[in-house]
Amino acid sequence: MLPRPSRLFGKLLLALWLSMLLSILLTAAYLHFIGFRPPTGEDMPTVSGIPAPPLFIGGLASLITSLGLAWYLSRPLRHLRWGLHRMAEGRFDTRVQPLIGRRRDEIADLAHDIDRMAAQLQQLIDSRRQLLHDISHELRSPLTRLQAAIGLLRQDPSQTQALLDRIERESERLDALIEEMLTLHRLAAASGLAHERVDVIELLQAIAEDAEFEARATGRSVRIDAPGRFVAEVNGELVCRAFENVVRNALKFSPPGTAVEVDARVGGNGSELVTTVRDRGPGVPPEMLEAIFEPFIRVEGSEATRGVGLGLAIARRAMLVHGGQISAALRPGGGLEVTLRLKAGVREGQAS
Ligand SMILES: Nc1ncnc2c1ncn2[C@@H]1O[C@H](COP(=O)(O)OP(=O)(O)OP(=O)(O)O)[C@@H](O)[C@H]1O
Ligand SMILES: [Mg+2]
Repeated sequence: MLPRPSRLFGKLLLALWLSMLLSILLTAAYLHFIGFRPPTGEDMPTVSGIPAPPLFIGGLASLITSLGLAWYLSRPLRHLRWGLHRMAEGRFDTRVQPLIGRRRDEIADLAHDIDRMAAQLQQLIDSRRQLLHDISHELRSPLTRLQAAIGLLRQDPSQTQALLDRIERESERLDALIEEMLTLHRLAAASGLAHERVDVIELLQAIAEDAEFEARATGRSVRIDAPGRFVAEVNGELVCRAFENVVRNALKFSPPGTAVEVDARVGGNGSELVTTVRDRGPGVPPEMLEAIFEPFIRVEGSEATRGVGLGLAIARRAMLVHGGQISAALRPGGGLEVTLRLKAGVREGQAS
């Protein structure tokens, strides 16, 4: 297939062709002016022996088109430069496309790409800022409780045991929070993740078995239906954390006497594993089905089962770096259904 002719190339070609045409038109106008009489040797003014009229006409025509061309090319480039300078100063709300106007060529495409890059950087910076704010807030709460417990311990040594338990719980919480934040950070960088061949179905069965063992003590259960094998090139630890968090969430929110159902099916001719985890818990408000995958978003009223609030954010990132997806839906009859899709062999570079 022939490459698409460049639109800028077309414009430049047209400009040069117009310059030639202009020379011809000016020559015709000149001939008309002198009454179409061929000038004789004496009538003809010369510059260093070269007849002046064609020189003058050619020079004038190319000056006019060069001026037009220079203005046409340098004006948008000046706008792009201005925009890039502002972005270099950290002003990512700058947009250059409105300044470029209605032109349709590679320069307009470049302006569009620069604006898109600025919008993405702005979004990234905003989300980082928000995350930093949330992290400080999340770290402060257990720290405040720790300080309060230490203060109480000083005032009333008779409560030592209860307060030490509290201090231990809060420091464990801080430890878990920092550990999960580090995992999320590692996933955000996503480079250098070790991949190994893992039978994900076997992994799921081990997770379900552990969860079932813990669930029995509280009158809940975990049922798994995952036939066959699904060997994928993944980072085993991260995939394990993703599935484990979803299963543990389901268990955490399940009322006693109910079962968590884990169902895994190999699809797409063995290239994809679709796992659903269903529970009969309270579910989440419909408008929060997407938001629960953001860091530190928790549904109001789930304070009793409060965790760090990063489990689903880690699960989503873990699925994304493996070219997979995760989503949540409300279950008919009550409860939440989380679906995880995992590809068999996507390396980091291919992940979306
Ligand atoms: N199966 C579920 N049923 C009802 N609500 C859920 C369920 N799974 C998640 N949620 C809601 O989504 C929120 C986020 O879940 P996520 O796993 O990210 O955090 P967490 O479980 O609170 O903490 P952790 O980081 O320890 O996992 C939960 O706090 C809860 O409000
Ligand atoms: Mg969780």
